[in-house]
Amino acid sequence: MMVKNINLNVKQLNEFKPFIDYALNSRDDLLLSAKKFGTPQYILDEGLLINNVSRIKNAFLKTIPKSKIFYAFKSNDLPYMIKSLKNQGINADVSCMFEMQLARKLGFKDIIYTAPYMSDEEIQFAIKNDIVINIDNPLVFQRVSDSCSQLNIGAKISFRIQNVAKPWKKFGMDMDTFVSLSHKALNNKNLAWIGIHSHASWNVDAKNYVSNLESISNCLRTQFRKEELSSLKFIDIGGGFTPFESISIEEETIIPVSIESFAKDIGIAVKTHIIDTLGINPEIWLEPGRMISSIPTIILLRVDTIKGDEVITDGGINLVGDALFENECYPVINLSGLSEQNFKLKSGKINGPLCDPSDHWGIKYFGEKLKPGDIIAVMNQGAYTFSTSWRWQRPIAKYIAFNSEKSKNSGGKFLLVKSEETFDQRYAGCKF
Ligand SMILES: Cc1ncc(COP(=O)(O)O)c(C=O)c1O
Repeated sequence: MMVKNINLNVKQLNEFKPFIDYALNSRDDLLLSAKKFGTPQYILDEGLLINNVSRIKNAFLKTIPKSKIFYAFKSNDLPYMIKSLKNQGINADVSCMFEMQLARKLGFKDIIYTAPYMSDEEIQFAIKNDIVINIDNPLVFQRVSDSCSQLNIGAKISFRIQNVAKPWKKFGMDMDTFVSLSHKALNNKNLAWIGIHSHASWNVDAKNYVSNLESISNCLRTQFRKEELSSLKFIDIGGGFTPFESISIEEETIIPVSIESFAKDIGIAVKTHIIDTLGINPEIWLEPGRMISSIPTIILLRVDTIKGDEVITDGGINLVGDALFENECYPVINLSGLSEQNFKLKSGKINGPLCDPSDHWGIKYFGEKLKPGDIIAVMNQGAYTFSTSWRWQRPIAKYIAFNSEKSKNSGGKFLLVKSEETFDQRYAGCKF
């Protein structure tokens, strides 16, 4: 669970209790899936996904009736999961050609495309497929305008504005550039300017969203006439809602506020800065990634052998695409030896099979002392793991889906929703 040799107090240890309870409740299903499909595997609990999404949707609809959720595909692009999100009324936030194609293939209608670089091919695909293009910089604006003239079709556009609190220059434009480009758009018959966007990652409370809304409001109030704002359909406040479940618990950890609290404060800011100040009532778009995808996926590993204190498993950090566990702490549980009574931390470094010393899952875990053949669950591993996984040494792992809500023991209700990568898939397109 944690690589740094930190001593958590009882209160901090108890932060993990919900994960242990979940593991206890779903233990039979998870062990059955490991047995049936083998390890390593990603396993999606669709019941958790559905509950999670409806909680997020309801929280925002309550405080912002005109809110719409656009799921950030980049956080986990598993088609089966995205289809389930679509069935729950979620829209698409995409960042590249593959994601645009996936969104179209799955039948999404409302799609927003945001990236700091967009090729002509990508821009033209977006225009032809009625995808809203979120303009990042003047060069992309010019490309979109030229593509429209070339294709003789109009494009729907929005502008990405740099976040006030974390002005990463890589993403979006400053207010002056926005004002100048949006006025050009208002005079371009091919361009329908319908939105404004801003995004910052890893927010633990609503402060960033509130300050962005305030500065957007100030700019719109002072730089535009009211009739120029009549076609503004939405303000997109981005993703970046940090779920408590996906943070690394450490001694100094700041626990993020709940989604209901994010929604409450953002709702107040929308009313104050947009509806009351500007006299307009646009849709508010949100682009959560991590908040939706992290909790419902668990990684399952099998202990192969033990060398002294070091455990070797069959799944490595290629599954998460990062040496995350060098510095961060996530709950790791020995599912094979877990009961209410042994909610305790054990020591032992859990390694993966890669030829890299940073390939490990931390040095502590919950449950009984690990032995060969035990199944380990790494919790909350759905965001920026499968979509960022490495093609190094091991195949991209299989993905299984089940629904813990439907029955205590899902029995035959497991679905293989992505098979393990094969030799032919790995070397597709290579000359031999
Ligand atoms: C434009 C944009 N929207 C949404 C997201 C999703 O962020 P998160 O997964 O933190 O919610 C990202 C993440 O990088 C992003 O760049």
